[in-house]
Amino acid sequence: MKSLKGMHVLMGVTGGIAAYKSAELCRLLKKSGATVQIVMSEAACQFITPLTLEALSGRPVAVQMFGRTQGALEHIDMPTEADLMLIAPATADYLARCATGRASDLISSVTLAFAGPVIAAPAMNTNMYTNPATRRNLETLRHYHGWHFVEPTSGELACGTVGQGRMASPQDIMAEVLAFTHRDLAQKKIVITAGPTVEDIDPVRYISNRSSGKTGYALAKRAQLRGADVVLISGPVSLAPPSNCQIIHVRSALEMEAAVLAHCDDADAVVMCAAVADYRPASKADEKIKKPQLNQIQLVPNPDILAGLGEKYRNASTPKLIGFALETENLKQNATAKLQQKGADVIVSNLAADALEGDMTKVTIFESNGDFQETGIITKAELADLILNLI
Ligand code: C5P
Repeated sequence: MKSLKGMHVLMGVTGGIAAYKSAELCRLLKKSGATVQIVMSEAACQFITPLTLEALSGRPVAVQMFGRTQGALEHIDMPTEADLMLIAPATADYLARCATGRASDLISSVTLAFAGPVIAAPAMNTNMYTNPATRRNLETLRHYHGWHFVEPTSGELACGTVGQGRMASPQDIMAEVLAFTHRDLAQKKIVITAGPTVEDIDPVRYISNRSSGKTGYALAKRAQLRGADVVLISGPVSLAPPSNCQIIHVRSALEMEAAVLAHCDDADAVVMCAAVADYRPASKADEKIKKPQLNQIQLVPNPDILAGLGEKYRNASTPKLIGFALETENLKQNATAKLQQKGADVIVSNLAADALEGDMTKVTIFESNGDFQETGIITKAELADLILNLI
């Protein structure tokens, strides 16, 4: 059973109706062994009294910048003591203040002064949540400040409308906090490739594979949250890079191979999630090739990056080599052959019919020792965890 024993959580409560759920969340944090210091915005006090949270946390609740519950420098002292900040609920206005670096009240000052990880559970009306201004603020916090969000759920909101914006349940927020702090991959370096490679024919044409990059990006995000030092080598995709990962953008298979080789020697695992193009044009034309000559393009095979690593580390215990395989038939037979041909330790295989471009997937994971596990339909984040469990 995971616990938060020994952790000091700075829990922020801002002014939304979901503030009533923060009492239960505080209780769950305490029950799992954390010490909890609560800081509330003044608006939050309209929804739940500081007295309630004081009784549950066992500590004075801080609200006002100049009210001094603890000391003159509490907006600096409180963040220094904390291992983690958890904001639930996080309102649109609070997120906007944080995204622009404002320190206009105690809770935003404390957040600005906090250098550790922040987990926030947004809660607001659907239109406020989907408003481009809020989306931009969330993206800013995610990418520039490394915040982690517990997404709001869909359902009936306090205002009577139905849609996304309802704060995740205290139990779900607690599960995210436990997963976040379960840093079982600390000290591990993991190299992950993602997305397609693009092989240029001429200035306007190219050969590529269909790949959204979602699985590789989910792997990078989960690995980072579990404490790994992540190098994400990505072909062109339209996904925002996960925070706190080293990201290397590449285009062609040759560029991807060079980046992998530059980072894999001291890696504990290399996860080849990318859909590498099998062939590239022998040369890239400087001018646009005329249509009648297009069927004369000479193709040469790209190096098989995974097989190259399999050869290079044939007798080494690290890095662990994990590959992917998309098949149209004979999943087990093909995956077993690929484990051998490529010298991989694990092949994550799926049927083309199950290859879902959205957030869900369904795979079978084959290991070189003969073990295999079939997943049902799961999220790509869940798949990422299953793969990372093998490292
Ligand atoms: O042979 P196939 O393309 O099915 O193998 C897929 C696996 O091999 C994936 O892990 C992919 O990233 C990797 N691969 C590679 N270099 C290539 C082609 C595939 O590393 N040129």
